[in-house]
Amino acid sequence: MEVDGGAIDAVLSALPEADEIQDPELRRRVGSAFVLGLRESSFSSIHDVPGEYDLDPSVNLVAHTRVVTAMATAAADAMQARFPDVKVDRDTLIAGSLLHDVGKIYEYDRLRAATWRDGRARTGYPPIRHPIYGAHLAMAAGLPEAVVHIVASHAAEGTRVRRSLEATLVATLDHISWELLLTARRGLTIDDVRSGTPRIRSLPPRKSGGSA
Ligand SMILES: [Fe+2]
Repeated sequence: MEVDGGAIDAVLSALPEADEIQDPELRRRVGSAFVLGLRESSFSSIHDVPGEYDLDPSVNLVAHTRVVTAMATAAADAMQARFPDVKVDRDTLIAGSLLHDVGKIYEYDRLRAATWRDGRARTGYPPIRHPIYGAHLAMAAGLPEAVVHIVASHAAEGTRVRRSLEATLVATLDHISWELLLTARRGLTIDDVRSGTPRIRSLPPRKSGGSA
């Protein structure tokens, strides 16, 4: 599928970690998957896509994607320096990290979501989630199977497959990145937010007066 080179450059400039991908064709295809997603959505810029509505709407897709990519590559480097038999393919890891949430361009598209809201019994809600739509975009952009696998398996959808080394890194660091932000900013875990019942132990009542 033909994708405008200028549009690819605009996406890649927002994701400078892509410069670390050694294979220029792989780098171009990463940008291409984002451009295809934007083209099929009502978003005009990658900067407008949220990272995760439920957990912290102030973090956009670019900020989230960049930190997960940085964390995944740092973890791979630390592991390989001490355990050389853990051989991680760095190009695959970076490409998969950058693309793991590309499908949120679909899942978080307000215009598209509006068409699902009234007919959930017919459409499902959402009809498909971002890992599946992201895999569609990655395949349409001609990315290798190992990268598509990372995108498709990084969330709950991945519990039905055995994840590769690179997919394990992305799925784990994706989770940790949100857990750290929630803990730091709200003192909550992902489970707290998803269940809607923060499991925070009440502090004992403050004693008045000076007596113990
Ligand atoms: Fe993510």
